[in-house]
Order: sequence, then structure tokens, then C-alpha cells
Amino acid sequence: MRRTRQGGTDLEQTIIEETLSRIESKIERLIEHAGSSYPDHAGPDGIYKFRQADWWTSGFFPGMLWILYDLTGRERFKAAAWGRDADIAGWFGRPTVELNHDVGFQFLPTAVIKHTLTGDGEALRHGLTAANFLASRFHPAGGFIRAWNLGPDGQPRPGWAIVDCLMNLPLLFWASGVSGDPRYKQMAVIHADTILKHGLREDGSVSHICSFDPESGHFIETLGGQGAAPDSAWSRGTAWALYGYALVYRATGESRYLHAAKRAAHYFLAALPEDGVPYWDFRLVRREGEPRDTSAAVIAASGLLELAESVPDPERRLYEDASKRLLRVLTGAWTTWNDDSHQALLTGATGNRPLGHHVDFSLIFGDYFYLEAFAKLAGWKHRIF
Ligand code: GLY
Repeated sequence: MRRTRQGGTDLEQTIIEETLSRIESKIERLIEHAGSSYPDHAGPDGIYKFRQADWWTSGFFPGMLWILYDLTGRERFKAAAWGRDADIAGWFGRPTVELNHDVGFQFLPTAVIKHTLTGDGEALRHGLTAANFLASRFHPAGGFIRAWNLGPDGQPRPGWAIVDCLMNLPLLFWASGVSGDPRYKQMAVIHADTILKHGLREDGSVSHICSFDPESGHFIETLGGQGAAPDSAWSRGTAWALYGYALVYRATGESRYLHAAKRAAHYFLAALPEDGVPYWDFRLVRREGEPRDTSAAVIAASGLLELAESVPDPERRLYEDASKRLLRVLTGAWTTWNDDSHQALLTGATGNRPLGHHVDFSLIFGDYFYLEAFAKLAGWKHRIF
């Protein structure tokens, strides 16, 4: 590592640098395996399988490459990340039902960070194209950004909004910043308020899906989605809310979003089992035999560091310590350092338990947020989300 925080004195500094070196080695090997493909998930064999660039996770591997480039200055990471924004943007001109509200997850870690780090004009254009696409999904009567194109049954669901979409809002905030057009930011704030009203519960847990009448925009009900039930508490959704509202607070300075992020954080931390690794849902009737979700833990860990940046001491310390506790537990028991042939960083992530997709797997977004959290602890100053 070339550029790490100078003068860190606490015990963790060695662990942070060691972990980043291990991540760097694993990702160098993954570059060879991936070529120009998009790693998505790895099962027990530890070999990453690929998805097309239109799939919502396509930004995470490039995002890891850009973070490593920014931390180390090594051209190898930049070269492997360079063409990804054009690759994903190519799908705007092709038939696909996959491009949806998640273009933030795809273009913030590719076009936007590339433009930030290199000033590349084509990356700026791709980022703005993606922001326009995201803005085109805004539902004016309901005040939300439409989720997905089809529901799990293959039917269109124009009245659905989801909590995860909070993480895509930084694309709209960025677009307002670079274009000087406040409408992107206005849409982001309206979506954040709608989810605040209907998706984030008083206790800080979340509903995954909020369903609205697509004609009138009136709220109908909440749905379980990737959680166990409409009134359960999908752990990754809670982590998305924690991190997402911390980001909306950073962009707006409005205290209601800081309070929302804190509520989600406090629920997440209070609901953790004794060993500190979340089950895929915090309100399971029976936990026996149910999988964990390490991706929820790392999203929360990185989000807690964002929250820590937003508050003064001694509160800052509280959130930073909670983040480090999560990272320590994961690094101790859920990493693959003892297996060179395992291409992922973390095991024990759960993609979609109700549909039985990628249960107890390695997922590229889990690996991304693990690296992102350690990069923040090492003093990485740029931000992707
Ligand atoms: N699409 C976001 C998630 O599965 O968490």
C-alpha cells in the first residue's frame, strides 16, 4: 500500500494495513480470472461466477479496482477498471429488462469515481446518462423512484418502491452538483422522504417494498420482498437504510435523515446475535438452520463509518467502534485468507433467502463493502457512495 493514513498509533492500524494487503493480493488474482467479465457470486468452490454488465452488481468489482488504484496508485488496477463504464453504458442501447433503479450501484463505482479520479469526459457523460435514466423512473404522484421493471412473477410493478434504492440517490446528488440542475437532488429528497414515511419503522427496522397505487400514487401496503415477511426485519435492508440515510444527510444537511440513519443503526446493532453476525432477517420465528448475511454486516460497517463522520465526539467514537467490532468479527471467522484458491474475500453472505438465491455464498457487493470499510479506516478520502 502506498497511500495509507500517516501517524496512526492504535493497535488496529497494523490489522487494517495487513487486511488491505490481503485484499490487494486476492483482487490481483481475481483480475486474471475475470478478464473483462463481471464477478457476481461464488459458492462453496470459491470460484467467482459472472453476470452480464446489465446486472445490478456489475459496478462492484470495478469499484474495488478504483478504490485499490486510489489507495496504491498502481496502474494495473486503473487499467482493469478503465473500460467498465462504457461497457455498462452500452446496455442503454440494447434490449434488457435488467437496468433499473440500481444504476447508481452500477455507475457510482465506475463512471462517477472514474470522472472524480481522472477527469475523463466520457465517464462524466456516462454518469449523467445514468442519472437521467434514474430520474426517468421518478413517480411524481407517489413521490418515489420506481423499483425494478418486473416483479418476481414476471409482471410489471410500476407502483413499487424499495428501501435499497436509497443507496442509488448519491447518483442524483452528484448529477445536480456537476450539472447545476437541482431537479435531480429534489427527486432524491422526495424519494428519501417517502421511504422515511412508509418504509422505515419507528423502531429503526425496515420493510423492503412499499407498494403504491400506480395511478393515484396512494400508499397501499408494505411487502416482505427479500425479508421473511411484511412485518419482519430484513437485515441487509436495515443496513441499506442506515448507510443510505447517512448519505442523504451528507448531501442535504437535513437532521431528519441523520436521525433516520441513527434509528436504523441502533436497531441493527441491538438486533445482532451474540456472535455479532446478522441472520438474513432479524425477526425470524426460528433461527436454527437459518443462514447469516455477512453482506449486511459489511454494508452496516461502512455505513457506520459514514455516520461517525457526521457526528462529533463522543458519539463519533460510538459508531466507529461499532463498525470496527463488526469488521473484527468478520475478519476473524468469515474471511478466506487461509484458502488461496477461494477467490472471494468473505463467506456467509445471503442474496435472496425467500427465492433461495445464493444462500450462504460469497457475493461481490459483500466483498466491495468490506474493502470500502477498510479503505475508509486507512484514511481513503474519496467516496463512491
Ligand atoms: N438489490 C439489493 C440487494 O439485494 O440488497
